[in-house]
Amino acid sequence: GTVAVLAGGLSHERDVSLRSGRRLSVALRDQGLTVQEWDTDASLLDRLKTEKPDAAVVALHGGEGENGSIQTVLEMLGVPFVGTSSRGCRRAWDKPIAKALVSKAGFSTPDWVALPHSTFRELGAQPVLDAMVERLGLPLILKPDQGGSALGAQVVRDAADLPAAMVGCFAYGDTVLAERFIDGVEVAVTVVEYEDGPKALPAVEIVPEGGVYDYTARYTAGLTDFFAPARLSEEVAEAVSDLAVSAHTLLGLRDISRTDAVVASDGTVHFLEVNSSPGLTETSTVPMALEAAGTSLGAVFTDLVQRAVQ
Ligand code: DAL
Ligand code: MG
Repeated sequence: GTVAVLAGGLSHERDVSLRSGRRLSVALRDQGLTVQEWDTDASLLDRLKTEKPDAAVVALHGGEGENGSIQTVLEMLGVPFVGTSSRGCRRAWDKPIAKALVSKAGFSTPDWVALPHSTFRELGAQPVLDAMVERLGLPLILKPDQGGSALGAQVVRDAADLPAAMVGCFAYGDTVLAERFIDGVEVAVTVVEYEDGPKALPAVEIVPEGGVYDYTARYTAGLTDFFAPARLSEEVAEAVSDLAVSAHTLLGLRDISRTDAVVASDGTVHFLEVNSSPGLTETSTVPMALEAAGTSLGAVFTDLVQRAVQ
């Protein structure tokens, strides 16, 4: 049978997805699967109906590919696919929802406020910014509440920089997530579902050369150092694994996910977000974690494809 790897799409993360899709397709072909790489556009529905692939793998990032829309199409047509269901995607894609659910379960996540654009009109920009700084302190982080690859995200150290940073963030959507900044080490924890349940792979430690893990630091080889496994004590390594498996389960994610967290200098672990469609590029942490676990992208995704079509 044929496996369609869905990549590309129209989101801001199109280029990243094309790289993820390329790498995954090569890895699946190496395992003997018949793979077609689909650049996902408006013809998807017709194409699925006429070509009837045996399974699809969602290697889309951002927008429709990660917010549950494409997954709804696949579910409606009954196409078995690798990746999280539409319902799980909707939860994980909305960072404030994911933070609220994970925090309710007893895990720490940096304090935050979600600011819809209308708030600024209704209350005035300066009062809103003042209240935000009073609550979260400085530095703080601004992110689009729905987004990926750090696009639009900014660390703000000086209150004078807030208005410009806000404008940059609103360019990506209607609501900004402002988060308290936690000084520490960023780790990414991949969770894979095996026959006997979800398991965390070794955490990957992220050390961007310039200190900030932005889009360029993510996708330019050599700009970030990665340690797989992360240099954590056994106790902290266990805590980040527990957080990642719990986030995966709580949000109803499927097959594979990646939880991003920060380990503060006192060893406490803080949830940042969970990615239902994590990057699979040469500089992405999921393939590094798979390798550190003694397996590979090809082996794990072949297994997931086989289970999806069962
Ligand atoms: N949003 C990017 C692809 C990631 O999380 O890896
Ligand atoms: Mg993300």
